[in-house]
Amino acid sequence: MSDLKVFESIAEFIKYRDQNLLSKKVGFVPTMGALHEGHASLLRKSSQENEFTVLSIYVNPTQFNNPDDLKKYPRTWEADLEIAKESGANIVISPKYEEMYSDNYRYKVTEAEFSKILCGAHRPGHFDGVLTVVMKLLNIVSANKAYFGEKDYQQLQLIKDMTKNFFMKTEIVPCPTLREKDGLAMSSRNVRLTTAGRQKAPALYEALTNSKSVNEAREKLQLKNIEVEYLEEHFGRRFIAAFIDQVRLIDNVSI
Ligand code: PAJ
Repeated sequence: MSDLKVFESIAEFIKYRDQNLLSKKVGFVPTMGALHEGHASLLRKSSQENEFTVLSIYVNPTQFNNPDDLKKYPRTWEADLEIAKESGANIVISPKYEEMYSDNYRYKVTEAEFSKILCGAHRPGHFDGVLTVVMKLLNIVSANKAYFGEKDYQQLQLIKDMTKNFFMKTEIVPCPTLREKDGLAMSSRNVRLTTAGRQKAPALYEALTNSKSVNEAREKLQLKNIEVEYLEEHFGRRFIAAFIDQVRLIDNVSI
């Protein structure tokens, strides 16, 4: 169990960082909270590889293209702090919109190619929101390394590419996708599934891994009445987004 310091003010965190963290090896794990074992695995890796681990919990409104999804995003603050402590986090930053976006989102980071396929094709503006908030967070924390899950593979690649092309100093560390025993990729949104939906959900991973083609995978899911948003192959990986109980789930595997 680590001691946990919580900052809601970015200015106060930066003051603390400048006095205490600049000479330390710092790892950073950005999240939107509703923490699960997948997030915990990132925190554990960070605390193994660094002297200090910073966790951010910020449900970033600019990356939600669907207001209902933002409203229904699970918020589990007390449980998150327990997981944070157990997994080796030392600091939690949980900023407010007014400080995070004092420009009211006039400035944004836009990528013009890879962000336009897969999730980007179906969630207009989503990756602008992600890249903008991640650049802000990386600048705030000024970590040596930041940890991102392969569960959000497109996000991970875009962030890696952004840090390279803007000559940012934080190294981006990819981490494998953690799954439930039945194969379902862990996600904060899984708690929104009904019992019946939860039983159907492993079909996504099953279709991704046990089909000869994307068409075959699509047919399998259609038979189960699962609404597929996209099922595509790019750069040696197979990607899916699908709706179960109106909850949007994503996954990807190497092929
Ligand atoms: P969130 O969905 O909370 O995820 C935070 C981090 O945890 C991401 O890097 C994500 O890929 C990783 N993660 C989620 N589920 C995982 C799993 N099953 N196994 C391994 N890692 C997993 O992704 C975001 O938040 C936001 O877009 C953010 C980067 C914080 C910007 O707002």
